[in-house]
Amino acid sequence: MNIVWITSESHPYAKTGGLADVSLSLPAALATRGHKVSVIMPYYPRQMAKLKLKFHSRTEMLGVPFGGQTEWAQILEHRLDKNLSYYFIEFNRFFDRDGLYDWDGVAYPDNGERYIFLSRAAMQTILKLKLKPDIIHTNDWHTALNNVYLKSGLYRNAPNFANCRSVLTIHNLGYQGVIDKSNLFWTGLGWEYYNFLCLEFFDQINLLKGGIMTADMINAVSPTNAEEILSSGYGFNLESSLQHRAAQGKLRGILNGINIKEWDPAHDNRLPATFSAEDLSGKAVCKAELQKQFSLPVRPDVPLFGAVTRLAHQKGIDVICESLEDLLIHDDIQVAILGSGENGMRDWLNSLAARFPNKLGVYIGYDDSLAHQVEAGSDIFLMPSRYEPCGLNQMYSMRYGTLPLVRATGGLADTVINYDPASLDISTGFVFYDLYAGALSGTMRWAAATCRKHPDHIRAMQLNGMSKDFSWDHTAAEYERLYEDAHR
Ligand code: ADP
Ligand code: GLC
Repeated sequence: MNIVWITSESHPYAKTGGLADVSLSLPAALATRGHKVSVIMPYYPRQMAKLKLKFHSRTEMLGVPFGGQTEWAQILEHRLDKNLSYYFIEFNRFFDRDGLYDWDGVAYPDNGERYIFLSRAAMQTILKLKLKPDIIHTNDWHTALNNVYLKSGLYRNAPNFANCRSVLTIHNLGYQGVIDKSNLFWTGLGWEYYNFLCLEFFDQINLLKGGIMTADMINAVSPTNAEEILSSGYGFNLESSLQHRAAQGKLRGILNGINIKEWDPAHDNRLPATFSAEDLSGKAVCKAELQKQFSLPVRPDVPLFGAVTRLAHQKGIDVICESLEDLLIHDDIQVAILGSGENGMRDWLNSLAARFPNKLGVYIGYDDSLAHQVEAGSDIFLMPSRYEPCGLNQMYSMRYGTLPLVRATGGLADTVINYDPASLDISTGFVFYDLYAGALSGTMRWAAATCRKHPDHIRAMQLNGMSKDFSWDHTAAEYERLYEDAHR
């Protein structure tokens, strides 16, 4: 198939979270399976200039109808393989910024315009490059409008789209692109699209809703999340739109895979020592180095909890802080947290670290190498998420012999099997259910006690996790079926 994948971010070019990981590894997996994949995303000069990418081609100007006039962008092609190219839309007014979506925790006020522009530019790119997609694959609110465009009079009759259907992957329903209805002007669409079966949502535009209502197929990124989002607790006020599409048989849940080359403890040159299931000795070196990096006492015996996370409400950081208020007073544990995001959570973590410097180390920022080091050097990896559509870190942890401690939600529930001494052959981590500080601290104490009293059980769980196959080989085929169903 000819697949056009449209995204707001992709590793290694620009990343804030798991969408970037998926936008690197799933297109590659599909290309390996013989599909021709073209990825379209913005060119973010401040994040990408340092990569010194070689562009295979640079088009003459791309005209993008926008707000009643034509804006001029450029398409930069970075070819990875004969079946896989990344096309970057260069348009500095919108994409030459210090952050992708926000700066210092405050969202850019023109995010609606910026990503409406990306969607429109992507459609124009398809025309300009004479691509004839069988599938347009969109991701989250930023590119959901492409599903609407494909069905609209602006594009549906263009020969390029004659055999094209669209798929929307919902990586995170918590972010929807809700903007003032006056922004309809930027889309070039008429008011007939502003109704409750398309873009309208409580008298505003909801870009994600437009995608949900018009995509030929929709998927969430884990089977459990595909069910959760139909309920009021996890539906973020879009549950009835999703129920409507689910009743038509248009909603699936497909668990994300991980890039097992990028995340491989046996060949990871970001680590002070490599290791594998056969020889775990390098993991102790990683733990000692991690303790040094976070200015914690170097002690092999103390249970070390790690986290790598966006500092967002979604991730239960407030619950971590509340638990630590108690644990750091009473318990002999260490915690190393790498995160960036909301200022309130940052400040709370920093103040805890200042009070308990021998027990808690906090690094505020975004650091890819350090993320790998936290995965490798920790004993236990914390993910007490409020909701977690899939989550990649728990799978990275298992690959690195680090036991995930998770709340049973979304992809966390689908990937981590709770510790049970009676079924040690399958256990892979620690699971809790209710989101409050006592539940998390109780589970952390349980995990710490297991590290001390039952190192053999810990070892068995490490090996279980390390032998799991979370690679895309497993799940890329499910996307092929999704694409076929989009054509039915
Ligand atoms: P989400 O997409 O909701 O943030 P995921 O678990 O799917 O959650 O993916 C998060 C990705 O972002 C992982 O690759 C993780 O290592 C990375 N990440 C998150 N925060 C940081 C950070 N501060 N520094 C480096 N990497 C980070
Ligand atoms: C989102 C979700 C996360 C998921 C990622 C990739 O950001 O929060 O759970 O793993 O997208 O699909």
